[in-house]
Amino acid sequence: MTSTAFRNAVKLSHLCVERVVKPGDTVIDATCGNGHDTLFLARLVTGGQVLAFDISPRAIANTRLRLEQHGLSDRVGLYEENFRNLASYVTSPAGAIMFNLGYLPGAPRETATTAESSREAIEKAVHLLRPGGVMTIVCYPGHEGGLEEVRQVLIVTAELDQQDFEVLKVKFINQAHHPPLLVVVQRLEGGLR
Ligand SMILES: C[S@@+](CC[C@H](N)C(=O)[O-])C[C@H]1O[C@@H](n2cnc3c(N)ncnc32)[C@H](O)[C@@H]1O
Repeated sequence: MTSTAFRNAVKLSHLCVERVVKPGDTVIDATCGNGHDTLFLARLVTGGQVLAFDISPRAIANTRLRLEQHGLSDRVGLYEENFRNLASYVTSPAGAIMFNLGYLPGAPRETATTAESSREAIEKAVHLLRPGGVMTIVCYPGHEGGLEEVRQVLIVTAELDQQDFEVLKVKFINQAHHPPLLVVVQRLEGGLR
């Protein structure tokens, strides 16, 4: 029997994206890492395109390999780039933008996203969403600098105008240690004005 549990912030981010992405959409993975989220997006956008970014060459190579193994490379553009600059690659409004912050598993922790760059990237990227599109941000308070990063993510998303965006913070409050939390931003269709 398939479990209906939400399980964790990453799984929940996939559910949030799945419910809004339409065939033909452009979708963005801001931090492709080992390619799990990119593969998820590539499966979702039949007839559309995925733009996937990471500053780490190793992450780009890992993602490329994963996509090749699943025969889905043709619908994904892979860019070794800081997510601060992703807007210059985007030519149509996005149905989904996924940020999975933190560091590449198995790589030195210096490769982790930072509070300052994540804040700037999120602040810019939110304007790339099409009406009805969602941004998901998975944040890890447990690693060094992680708490400050969560704080900045919450500040920048809480400031978004409620007439134009819906913003949720989801936390698994009975999980041990420092479970990741999920912030979801949806651009409202037509706004509330
Ligand atoms: C938790 S991992 C992402 C996991 C990935 N989404 C997956 O499914 O495997 C975070 C990634 O963010 C990348 N990263 C760190 N700073 C970045 C930046 N400024 N711009 C883009 N990527 C960055 C790291 O190299 C790392 O691969």
